[in-house]
Amino acid sequence: MAEEPTAADYRRNRQRREHDLAIFYEQQAPDRANFPTPTDRDRHRDIFLDRLETVIDNVAFGAVLELGTGTGRDAHAVAQRGFSVTGIDLAKANLAATRKLAPTTAVAQASAVELPFADRSFDAVLSFSTLMHISSDDVALALAECGRVLKPNGLAAFGTWGGADTDKILADDHYDPPRFFSLRTDKTWRSLVAAHASVIELTTWKPASSVDHYQWIIARFNERSG
Ligand SMILES: C[S@@+](CC[C@H](N)C(=O)[O-])C[C@H]1O[C@@H](n2cnc3c(N)ncnc32)[C@H](O)[C@@H]1O
Repeated sequence: MAEEPTAADYRRNRQRREHDLAIFYEQQAPDRANFPTPTDRDRHRDIFLDRLETVIDNVAFGAVLELGTGTGRDAHAVAQRGFSVTGIDLAKANLAATRKLAPTTAVAQASAVELPFADRSFDAVLSFSTLMHISSDDVALALAECGRVLKPNGLAAFGTWGGADTDKILADDHYDPPRFFSLRTDKTWRSLVAAHASVIELTTWKPASSVDHYQWIIARFNERSG
């Protein structure tokens, strides 16, 4: 009978996936900077920033952490609104692109499952199209990290591609090694987040150019989280 994977097995597998994702995104960074702006996402991001403005007394002191900052498009938009932004990513090329586009952003090469920040450092966490690269076995680690680094009652907004519950490596991707994706139904994703935070809203939409749908979840990490 096959033995159950140990914590060390999960860690090894996660590190292997992160290593491959970093290689993929290092290669993609120069093209990614020219990708068209997804208007649905921008709209939801801006509504989230409006919400933050109502709960943070002085925006200039509002600290926002972005997980998977990519080339810095969203970090730039958040900084433009007056917040102080910190971005993490696995790919150094993306961090360099972020610094170029949004020079006030503090950046760190790190994984969302192991954040190099002190407890209660941020007012909000924002993330687009990143948490779906973390397996459903490991995503609880990332959510617990959000709870740890957020101040009590801190808000988070996560955008992810959704689908039937599956962990898979793309059969045909643009660069080698192909990417790992963990797609989750709306129900699964909501319950994973609800184990760490109070879900305020889960909205979905289907971009015309895609067969998959996009999930946008806003949650409050209260005192019991982290
Ligand atoms: C699809 S891109 C999205 C980038 C950007 N947020 C956007 O929407 O344009 C995914 C990004 O997440 C980063 N990433 C993947 N897994 C990560 C992890 N565990 N921790 C931090 N960043 C990660 C990748 O390096 C990549 O930059």
